[in-house]
Amino acid sequence: MAKAEDGTNPEVHIWRIAPTRRDLFGFLGWGAVLTSIGIGSIAFVRFMYPRVLFEPPSRFKLGRPATYGVNQVSDKWIKALRFWLVRFDDRFVALSALCTHLGCTPRYLGTEDKFKCPCHGSGFRGYKAGWAVLGTNYEGPAPRPLERFKLVLADDGQLEVDKSLTFRIDKGDAIKPNAFLPFA
Ligand code: FES
Repeated sequence: MAKAEDGTNPEVHIWRIAPTRRDLFGFLGWGAVLTSIGIGSIAFVRFMYPRVLFEPPSRFKLGRPATYGVNQVSDKWIKALRFWLVRFDDRFVALSALCTHLGCTPRYLGTEDKFKCPCHGSGFRGYKAGWAVLGTNYEGPAPRPLERFKLVLADDGQLEVDKSLTFRIDKGDAIKPNAFLPFA
């Protein structure tokens, strides 16, 4: 075997710095230990924080019933909450302003007493047709009536809408509790 000029054997030198199989298993072992510690730490940190789903509020106070005229469609909440508050002789209805075709916002046309969608022309019945069929689709591509939101009278005497609960009159929901608010 050839020796270097300084008298050392280069092959022996290479053999000393190359990792052995034992070194390799050592690295793998430490890697596994550190990975376990890392995963455990992440799990611990997650455990320390509550798993709360933050959702936007769905209930909104709408003021006193007397502030809304009888037999009128109020668009006071269209921009902020996207629904009409419709008052009949004996009840209130919170009617969704989400077109059931592709989700545009219809407009209430008072002279024609109908809700007309500007996107593809769907039309929905206005208040003169009666509370039972208010929002029923009758022209254009909309496949079903506008939905209604839960409406109650809160403890403080204000109307309160809950947009997380909807009612569909095509499924017979028009007479369900909270699909309207009786008020004479
Ligand atoms: S989105 Fe209203 S008619 Fe198409």
